This record gives sequence, structure tokens and C-alpha cells, in this order.
Amino acid sequence: MAEIRLEGVGHSYDGGTTWALKPMTWTWQSARAYALLGPSGCGKTTLLNIVSGLLTPTVGRIFLNDREVTGVPTAGRNIAQVFQFPVLYEQMSVYDNLAFPLRNRKFPKKEVDERVRKVSELLGLDGHLKLRARRLDAGRQQIVCLGRGLVRADVAAVLLDEPLTVVDPAMKWTLRSKLKEIHRDTGHTLIYVTHDQTEALTFADEVVVLKDGEIVQAGEPAELFLSPAHEFVGHFIGSPGMNLLPAEISQEMVMLGAQEAGRITGLEPGPVNIGVRPEFVKLGKGLHATVTGVDRMGSHHLVHAEIDGHPLTAKTGTDVTPSPGQTVQVAFERAFLFRDQVRCGELG
Ligand SMILES: Nc1ncnc2c1ncn2[C@@H]1O[C@H](COP(=O)(O)OP(=O)(O)O)[C@@H](O)[C@H]1O
Ligand SMILES: [Mg+2]
Repeated sequence: MAEIRLEGVGHSYDGGTTWALKPMTWTWQSARAYALLGPSGCGKTTLLNIVSGLLTPTVGRIFLNDREVTGVPTAGRNIAQVFQFPVLYEQMSVYDNLAFPLRNRKFPKKEVDERVRKVSELLGLDGHLKLRARRLDAGRQQIVCLGRGLVRADVAAVLLDEPLTVVDPAMKWTLRSKLKEIHRDTGHTLIYVTHDQTEALTFADEVVVLKDGEIVQAGEPAELFLSPAHEFVGHFIGSPGMNLLPAEISQEMVMLGAQEAGRITGLEPGPVNIGVRPEFVKLGKGLHATVTGVDRMGSHHLVHAEIDGHPLTAKTGTDVTPSPGQTVQVAFERAFLFRDQVRCGELG
């Protein structure tokens, strides 16, 4: 396992006109399980391929522990990578596919057998070891690829690029918990790429949120939920995402139209967005809002309202059932202010 340090690493596919990955300095700590989360096209694969050595960054340097590997090809980095779609030796048996990375590194036969059996048991492949890989469906082939990525305990890091895309939904939960189990056992530095917030939050010690080639926030799942540093994190994480209400700072007051939403010191007057998660919008005393509808979700209600013409959603108990058109009062238990999408204060 290793610490992976990126120093000013960035990548442009078009000679510097646009940056798929904006130059960044960032450290992946040893033995930690990371989720790299962001929408399609934000640069996740680019970042992963730079770490594994499939891609040489346009600028910057990469270190594994303290060894610089910027110009070192994949084979010299001792990193296992699993791709979005199965890449395996179709003519080989499942056993031989799993054993391949170990035999390649001249592991003793007994150790090869032990590791292959352990990993295949964990991933539920033990009944298929003798089958040729091409006989398996795509989902199971992908599980073999996962196994191949995880079979060596001595790698510097394991990189997984949306590895469960072709696996059926029911299997995903099981596999994710198996992955966690294997991670606890081997202590790999693990980077799991996904565009799915649930997958990221349930899997990782730390979630790194990427947007337009830039890390906008990294932290434990609860931190991203409770304390979003960027509007995008508020919106992308959470279900439904954070409410954003355009407001105005004037004379240290945060004004939502004609209503005073709170006070703030130390910020320039001018427009801000109030960000508040539906979980922290409480019906009771406070700002006046007009109810537009209620979604009954079974375990909770989503009360939709308008405040100064802007939509606002509250997550409430099932006993709260205001009628559309009704005026209610809402209070924000935990709300932040954002300027140019970046958090600039907390609403007091
Ligand atoms: N080989 C390539 N050549 C040119 N542009 C690319 C190439 N690979 C990716 N890109 C572009 O770089 C950006 C980031 O892509 P990618 O890293 O694949 O994102 P993600 O994995 O998050 O979906 C996208 O705009 C994509 O179109
Ligand atoms: Mg990708």
C-alpha cells in the first residue's frame, strides 16, 4: 500500500485549450478507501488513468510514497486497476484469470492457491473456478475482474473505475460490502470511481467530489452532508439535494425578498444563495412560504413551497400535510451562504 501524491497534476487532451483535469495538488493517504464521485465527463477516468500510468499528465508530478513515478509506465507502478467493462482472458478458466497477477509476479504456488481461494470465496466465484471466463455472463465476468484487481495483497493501490456498471443491482450491494471486507483485510489504498452518491457514501472512508476537472470538496460522508463547501456538493449529495434560495445581503441582513432570513457580519453586500437541506427546513415559526404541494414518500413527506417566488422543499414527518395554497412558516436549522457557488458563511 502506498500514499499517492499529486503535485500540480493536470491534463489537457487538446494541447491546453481545455483542461479535462485542472492542475491540482492532492494526496491519497495510504490504506484509506476513497470514493471519487462526480457526474459523467468531470474527469474521473482521466484522474485514475494518470495515477495508474495509462496516461501521462500534461503538467505536474506524481509520487508513490516518496518515489516519483511521473514517467514510469503502468507495469513499474505496482497498481491494480479494474475498468468499467470486463477485460479478461476469455479462454482461460476463472481460476487462471484470478491467479494470473500472482503467477506473473512469481508468487509460490501455495500462496497463489490460497489467495485465489480466499478472494473467490468472498466474491462468490468459488463454484465457477473451473469454467472458462467466456462462459460467464458480463456481470460475473466483471466480478472476476474485481477479483483479479484484489487478489494481490502487496499492490501499492487498487483503482476501480465504475466497476459495478454491468453488475445487476441486487448484486451491487453484496459486492460493495465484500469490497469493504477485502479492504479491511488487505488495507489497500483504494480509489473507487462512481457517479452514484449512494455508492460513494456507503462505500468510502472519504468521498472526493470532482466537478469540471476540479476537486470541490473531500470529506467523510457526514461532513459532505452536514457541511457542504460548494453548491454542487449540496445539490449532488442528498436526496433531494440542498435547496438554493437567491438572497441579498444588505446592512448585515440576509434578505429573502422582503423577509429577513438572518444576520451575517463580514460579508460584502450583494447577492448570495442560501443553501439549506430539506432535512433542516422546519415548519413552525419563521419565514412565510406558500405551499405548492406535498409528496407522500411513505417514511416521510416532502413539502414543496415557494418563498419569494423560489422553490423550497422540506423533509417532514408523515403527520405534516399542509394544503397547496396554504401559507406556512419555515425556519432554517442549518443553512449556509454561497457566493460564486463557494460557501462563504453560515446563516445565523
Ligand atoms: N481520449 C480522449 N480524448 C479527448 N478527450 C477526452 C478523452 N478522454 C476523455 N476526454 C474528455 O475529457 C473529459 C473528462 O473525461 P473522463 O475523464 O472520461 O470523465 P469521467 O470518467 O468523469 O466521465 C470529458 O470532457 C471527455 O470528453
Ligand atoms: Mg469514466
